[in-house]
Amino acid sequence: MTIDISMLRRIPLFEELEDNEIANIRELIQTRIYRKNNVILLEEDFGDTLFIINTGSVKITRINEDGKEVILSILRDGEFFGEMSILDGESRSANVIAMEDSEVLILKRSDFLDLLERYPKIAIHLLEELAQRLRRSDRHIESLSLSDAEHRVGNALLRLAEDLGVHKKGVVTIDDLPLQQDIANMAGTSRETVSRMLKMLENKKLIEREGRILKIVNYVEFVRGFSK
Ligand code: CMP
Repeated sequence: MTIDISMLRRIPLFEELEDNEIANIRELIQTRIYRKNNVILLEEDFGDTLFIINTGSVKITRINEDGKEVILSILRDGEFFGEMSILDGESRSANVIAMEDSEVLILKRSDFLDLLERYPKIAIHLLEELAQRLRRSDRHIESLSLSDAEHRVGNALLRLAEDLGVHKKGVVTIDDLPLQQDIANMAGTSRETVSRMLKMLENKKLIEREGRILKIVNYVEFVRGFSK
């Protein structure tokens, strides 16, 4: 498949580069398709490639001591993964699994490190994104330490709203809500608890649901209630 410049320009990592710079980068990139539920990266594998999601979405997971999947994050089109092993030379820190049919762009480690040196704008963007991921992980840890399941589920919905939601006039709509089991794996609880909590949040008129669409009716209030 040919990669066109306008497609690469939509990738936040590259958005501030000139057309000729993006054209140079295009030569270094390969594309690959992963089907829904395919494993893209395995924790502990050796890693020497960076991935950028062109279309689709992936979940970043680890398996806990009881053998259960814990979802650390969900990433979607435009976002990158696989940078950690490239930067610190250690093995992959987590599993990455396609949540839908996804097309990813792949860059070799040596090419990516060259790009960081040649184009500081890419390096700055990478650092900004890593700072945001660290903040999000800090909030995640804080929410997992709260014993109340309602809060943990509410917090998982907030993270999904940040990752996947469309914000309009105070209402956030998540069009393709992950499975209740996935939300449970984000919140460190069971699917049954998620189902119960979603019904409760609906009864309290904090959310509305229709099929896979979920609306957070008053986002500001929801953040106030569940961000910690
Ligand atoms: P790497 O360790 O090379 O392979 C697994 C990737 O998952 C990792 O790089 C990051 O890109 C991504 N990843 C790991 N932990 C998180 C997290 N907490 N939030 C978002 N992405 C993560």
